[in-house]
Amino acid sequence: MRRERLESMVDTPLLWLAMAGLALLIFVADTVTDLEIAVAVLHVAVVLISVWTGRPRTVLIVGLVCSILTVLSFFMTVRGDTEAGIANSCLSLLAIGATTYLAIRIELADLAVRRAEADLARISRITMLGELTASIAHEVSQPLAAIGASSNAALRWLSASPPNQAEAQHALKRIVEAAERAGEVVERVRRLVRRAPPLREPVDMVDVIDETLALMRGKLRANAIPLRTELLQGPLPVMGDRVQLQQVLLNFITNAIEATVDTKPGDREIAVNTSADDREVSISVTDTGPGLSPQAMEHVFDPFFTTKEDGMGIGLAISRSIIEAHGGSIEANAAAPRGSVFRFTLPLARGRKD
Ligand SMILES: Nc1ncnc2c1ncn2[C@@H]1O[C@H](COP(=O)(O)OP(=O)(O)OP(=O)(O)O)[C@@H](O)[C@H]1O
Ligand SMILES: [Mg+2]
Repeated sequence: MRRERLESMVDTPLLWLAMAGLALLIFVADTVTDLEIAVAVLHVAVVLISVWTGRPRTVLIVGLVCSILTVLSFFMTVRGDTEAGIANSCLSLLAIGATTYLAIRIELADLAVRRAEADLARISRITMLGELTASIAHEVSQPLAAIGASSNAALRWLSASPPNQAEAQHALKRIVEAAERAGEVVERVRRLVRRAPPLREPVDMVDVIDETLALMRGKLRANAIPLRTELLQGPLPVMGDRVQLQQVLLNFITNAIEATVDTKPGDREIAVNTSADDREVSISVTDTGPGLSPQAMEHVFDPFFTTKEDGMGIGLAISRSIIEAHGGSIEANAAAPRGSVFRFTLPLARGRKD
């Protein structure tokens, strides 16, 4: 079925009728005229028309039929010089043969291109599906991990004697929030599959940063990484999808934590800064980790580029597509004296008012 669709282009009865009619016309003209007149050479036109079928086999058959008609016409022609007739027929056969050969070669190359295009389309669909799956797994894994950690904490607070209800309530609230976040991720994926337009609502980046830092504080503390912030007062309004923008910052900070944990405890630090002018707002995350090698610097935003044993290499690729979809830009640079700085910049929804 697939083969059929690939191979036939304009394989209509009309085309066959045109080819048969023309071949017959040339045959009759060749037979009724003198042997000195090489009408048979016009058969190359029929061969060229057969190329439109898109089938190398059809081109071969048409070439053979035209050759047979040329020979037949030679024997049926009654008028003219036989020697001139033989020479003309040979020349016509040569022209038909050469045209058929070239047409078949072109057709075979064309067929290979069409097959490659079909394969490429299939492969890119599969790759997209793979990326989407990896992206869902990546985004849902964070709230799931938070749910796991908070559930354990709640259990601990409740089994303490006496049970600490206030702390247990806090942990349960964090579980509810994480579950809501996971729900939002799933809703966004459904929106993507339904091809609904991504959310574009006014979002204050100050809130996005506050919420993200609140989510990450526990992890920073657990890894003994001090957080330094230099944040502008709000509002910093952008048009966009709050959860997606939060995801970018989460990815930056998660990477920064993963990069920093291997440095000496006293040298660990992560800084989150904002800067803005009338038109745009920039948010950067700086760490004191090992920094980026020149090779990593070139590829950090490529899908599936990772130097981590358990990394998927998808966090920064997703971040880049989110920021670009919001009309912004994203970059990675070396930080001084060591470490790296990841920054994204977004257009402000309207002039910033302090
Ligand atoms: N702050 C950083 N310092 C040093 N290298 C970094 C930093 N952030 C990212 N990288 C490099 O960029 C690579 C890609 O990061 P990315 O977040 O896309 O994937 P990942 O962290 O490896 O895996 P995951 O998809 O689970 O996030 C990392 O493997 C790491 O080599
Ligand atoms: Mg990552």
